[in-house]
Amino acid sequence: MNLIIFGPPGAGKGTQSNNIINDFDLKQVSTGDLLRSEIKIQTDLGKNIESIINNGEFVPDDVVNTLIRKIISDPKNFNRLIFDGYPRTISQVYSLERLLKEFNQKILIVFNLNVEKDVVSKRVNGRVICTRCFRVFNVYFNPPNSKNHKCEKKYLEKRIDDTLKTILNRYETYVAKTKPILDYYNKKGLLLEIDGNQKISEIYDKIKGILENIRHWHYVCFLYKFPWKNLTSLIYGSYSRYQYSSK
Ligand code: AP5
Ligand code: MG
Repeated sequence: MNLIIFGPPGAGKGTQSNNIINDFDLKQVSTGDLLRSEIKIQTDLGKNIESIINNGEFVPDDVVNTLIRKIISDPKNFNRLIFDGYPRTISQVYSLERLLKEFNQKILIVFNLNVEKDVVSKRVNGRVICTRCFRVFNVYFNPPNSKNHKCEKKYLEKRIDDTLKTILNRYETYVAKTKPILDYYNKKGLLLEIDGNQKISEIYDKIKGILENIRHWHYVCFLYKFPWKNLTSLIYGSYSRYQYSSK
């Protein structure tokens, strides 16, 4: 099962992806993590994109699409990807469609984590990430401790792009460029709305329930050779649907 998680900066895409990969044996693809790794080890690509990321702008589509091609084409990742932070532009949407078709896969579901702008700033301000295992924590809401984090403390860092100025820019860029593409997935009947203002565990319970349901019915369809498409409106129709607004 391949899925996409949308949401503004600080919505909890990484946090919820961390939870999902453990329970559903999926692989998280965070384009933000991949790009930051390039900056950290100062590859040519990393040097070129550093100022773009620090300003909260988008990295060019072809750069990101090339990274994604490598991942989708790897047989180890066949039909087990969570796209976190990708696609972000309509051109990335079309590139993803082409790649999935080429490698005989599809997106089963798209979540939109809906969060208010003022909530986002506090979350991002308190965020720390582990540069070794890539888990995401928060000094206010979800502090790292011996139960939820096994790596040494020295790996915990703040992100280079988590300044107040950058976060506001990232939020604006999201609203202008990424929000409109939600409509694309909505029209395909794949987009489900999740209230991201709740507690981490409450949000995850909801996501987990939906994914278990979808996995079950997808398997039933596979077993009895019933077209999956015929069931989607029945299954997705019982959840909260996205209401598109250009504001
Ligand atoms: P990226 O790294 O993807 O950043 P983002 O989209 O701005 O999203 P974040 O990672 O900041 O937020 P999140 O939703 O993952 O929240 P998290 O779970 O960490 O991208 C960074 C940059 O890379 C972009 O600006 C762009 O320049 C470039 N880039 C990336 N992808 C690109 C693409 N496809 N095309 C072009 N450029 C691209 O949670 C945030 C904090 O809140 C954490 O501390 C967490 O513990 C806490 N938290 C989470 N949920 C809750 C909750 N429910 N209650 C309380 N606290 C919570
Ligand atoms: Mg993230």
